[in-house]
Amino acid sequence: MTIALTAAPKLIVGNWKMNGLRASSAELEALAQGLATRVAASTLGAGVALCPPATLLQGFAERARDVALEIGAQTCHPEPSGARTGEISAEMIKDAGAALVLVGHSERRAMGETDADVRARAEAAWRAGLLAIGCVGETAAERDAGRALEVVGAQLAASLPDAASDANAVVAYEPVWAIGSGRTPSPAEIEEVHAAARAALSSRFGAPGDRIKLLYGGSVSPANAAEILATPGVDGALVGGARLRAASFLSIVDAAAPVSA
Ligand code: PGA
Repeated sequence: MTIALTAAPKLIVGNWKMNGLRASSAELEALAQGLATRVAASTLGAGVALCPPATLLQGFAERARDVALEIGAQTCHPEPSGARTGEISAEMIKDAGAALVLVGHSERRAMGETDADVRARAEAAWRAGLLAIGCVGETAAERDAGRALEVVGAQLAASLPDAASDANAVVAYEPVWAIGSGRTPSPAEIEEVHAAARAALSSRFGAPGDRIKLLYGGSVSPANAAEILATPGVDGALVGGARLRAASFLSIVDAAAPVSA
């Protein structure tokens, strides 16, 4: 599959984080078969991508080749190659058969990744021909201080390169306090941040900025997915957690309003 990913009305991306061994291919198999069934029945209303750990990229990409599923990495180093022990470049991710990469996830920002680092990683993704999914979001303290919009706006401005467009970039709003916590913002709070982010993208990037997909992430579950995905301004979801299983992931995919059969 090539990147028809962002053309779908909604986009659902799974982030396995540092979870998954080769034995997890049973989950991939269940997901691939579930997606194939939905494609055959014309009930798949979303682009779907999965970001396993780097060790599984190649095997997952091979299995996903003829499936409506793209495989992505969870970060990349800005440089294409070199003396960077332990790092993985965007070119290597592409070579493994992946089509996208997350950049600036809050779990990486918490380890010291700056907006400038995130921008460099997005540029590396594009150099290698990958879609970049840039993550932004406020902490609980920032939200409590009434600074959520300001923080998200500043992260967007500083971590998205000037060449961003709907063809190469997706943005995920992930409040740090909602990730892995079981707590989510209210639909009104999500709508407020997405509206502000959309306004910023449109004013900076023009028409392509109108179309850059804006995902919500942070404790999305089968129970709340329909409400979150129906919230105005939400173009999809970034779903994480060790608990991610094919059946629950597929029910989130199904909650992304199916296109009419
Ligand atoms: P969560 O993680 O769904 O477990 O909250 C989301 C993410 O970290 O992308």
